[in-house]
Amino acid sequence: MSIIPALQWRYATKKMNGEKVSQQNINSILESARLAPTSSGLQPFEMIVISNQALKEKIKPLAYNQSQITDCSHLIVFAAWNHYSIDRINHYFDHYEKERDLPKGFSEGYKNGVTKQLTAMTLERQFEHAARQVYIALGMALTEAGALEVDSIPMEGFVNHELDLLLDLEAKGLKSVVIMPVGYRDAENDWQAEQKKVRKTSEDMITFIE
Ligand SMILES: Cc1cc2nc3c(=O)[nH]c(=O)nc-3n(C[C@H](O)[C@H](O)[C@H](O)COP(=O)(O)O)c2cc1C
Repeated sequence: MSIIPALQWRYATKKMNGEKVSQQNINSILESARLAPTSSGLQPFEMIVISNQALKEKIKPLAYNQSQITDCSHLIVFAAWNHYSIDRINHYFDHYEKERDLPKGFSEGYKNGVTKQLTAMTLERQFEHAARQVYIALGMALTEAGALEVDSIPMEGFVNHELDLLLDLEAKGLKSVVIMPVGYRDAENDWQAEQKKVRKTSEDMITFIE
């Protein structure tokens, strides 16, 4: 099974038709992001899934009035940890040891190394590190949506700190990174719908060293 057909089918949909995506498909898209690999397995992000139309209306002006915000079925907000705390790292390793039936403290050496490395960075760099993990999950979610023939858009075109305020993300120690409207294309009114996919050639992007 290859994901190439899904990647060819998907495109950054500009106009959606308001049709609802089934909970089963939403769950699969979220599950693909939950299963994404992350640095040291810490999964330093959360996803907020918004289907409330009134809230989507409030978000639209924060996203430069992009119509997909209100015409989508669900809006997924990917929000990363604003920093790596010792509590957060401890919580992960406790969970890891429990899930694998390991004696408590089994991961102490590795955990101390990870904690030292991450907390030595400035808070800004810590957030950037966490945000990089988000993009791996975003890629998985976009691909799974494509495989299910559900449309979606990766979106950075929004005012992060205003969305953080609206969703009260600071209280959870989170900052928004990227948002992903999910729904169905309005093919007749979407100028992008039938356009050729534009990508660099393989020759321009790939070097084989044998
Ligand atoms: C990180 C990121 C941010 C993006 N932000 C927006 C956005 O705010 N609005 C939008 O319509 N498209 C956005 N895009 C979509 C890109 O413009 C689009 O993926 C790219 O032009 C390739 O086209 P395709 O995805 O249709 O194949 C974004 C894509 C990425 C990966």
